[in-house]
Amino acid sequence: MTGQDGSYLAELLVEKGYEVHGVVRRSSSFNRGRVEHLLEFGGHKVVDSGTLHLHYADLGDGSSLIRLLEKIEPDEIYNLAAQSHVAVSFEIPVYTADVVGLGTLKLLEAVRDLGLNSRIYQAGSSEMFGKVVEVPQSEKTPFYPRSPYAAAKAFAHWAAVNYREAYQLFVCNGILFNHESPRRGENFVTRKISLGVAAIKLGLQGKLQLGNLDAKRDWGYAKDYVEAMWMMLQQDQPDDYVIATGQTWSVREFCERAFRRVGLNWEDYVEVNPYYMRPTEVDILKGDPSKAQRKLGWQAKTSFDDLVNLMVDADLEYQKRTHRL
Ligand code: GDD
Repeated sequence: MTGQDGSYLAELLVEKGYEVHGVVRRSSSFNRGRVEHLLEFGGHKVVDSGTLHLHYADLGDGSSLIRLLEKIEPDEIYNLAAQSHVAVSFEIPVYTADVVGLGTLKLLEAVRDLGLNSRIYQAGSSEMFGKVVEVPQSEKTPFYPRSPYAAAKAFAHWAAVNYREAYQLFVCNGILFNHESPRRGENFVTRKISLGVAAIKLGLQGKLQLGNLDAKRDWGYAKDYVEAMWMMLQQDQPDDYVIATGQTWSVREFCERAFRRVGLNWEDYVEVNPYYMRPTEVDILKGDPSKAQRKLGWQAKTSFDDLVNLMVDADLEYQKRTHRL
């Protein structure tokens, strides 16, 4: 709930009048920054007609899930929990597989065992396409995972399909391509660039070190994408959907535009550091969102240029605020 997507989804659902119950993990530093505005001291705040409540639970702890699901009996469940950093998954593969893969299975088992009728959204990932066998990638494109994270997501995807077919659970897999925003974690490449560009522009940083500049991604705006999650659960039948813009851009092109936004030339500031290269890379992702458009009436609303600009602008403000400039 406290990540980028969880916070945008909570806003959307609260605005729609939902009683939202978010799951948070314990951590040594308080990590509620992205949902603070929806909360008030004591745990929940009424915003329009909806409410947000937070609970401690963890996909690694099946009993915590069962207790919570039994108490809330949710109409809809959105499984966004993950160790979601691809490069980090090479360092902690077993933990990543435990949360992303087995965690999803524990959730499906809990719903099945409790006999709940909850509709479930499973956060899939375009990383499952990995070393892509075709361009663009659709719901029919075979997976070829290239990281422990992607392998675990593929397991979770097929577990969801299996529980739909074996036990008639209402589970939808959203195969979301990269989606970004000013709330993106600081070690994902787009946010790293927008933060770096802002810091360089303000004289707080000299250079920006990155890894593979040739990687191409289909980048959309996270706020548009959480709407697709909700739409999937409002359909008569559960199904799987690719959510993407249908366009692809390189990390280099993201840099060019981000530096241009503040009147700088990226080549004067970006350095390539092999430390940020991955053992196996996903070279190009480009989604075919035509099924989502046809069946859900969903399409990306924010262009690549607008996304870059809104992230750089937000980080200029953020850096000024943080450094009292
Ligand atoms: N993080 C990072 N940092 N990536 C870099 C850097 C760097 O300094 N330099 C180049 N890159 C390249 C990576 O090698 C990769 O090819 C690309 O930038 C994007 O990396 P990330 O932003 O870390 O995202 P990702 O594509 O690996 O994964 C994200 O998108 C998936 C959906 O396709 C994550 O959000 C996943 O959780 C999500 O499933």
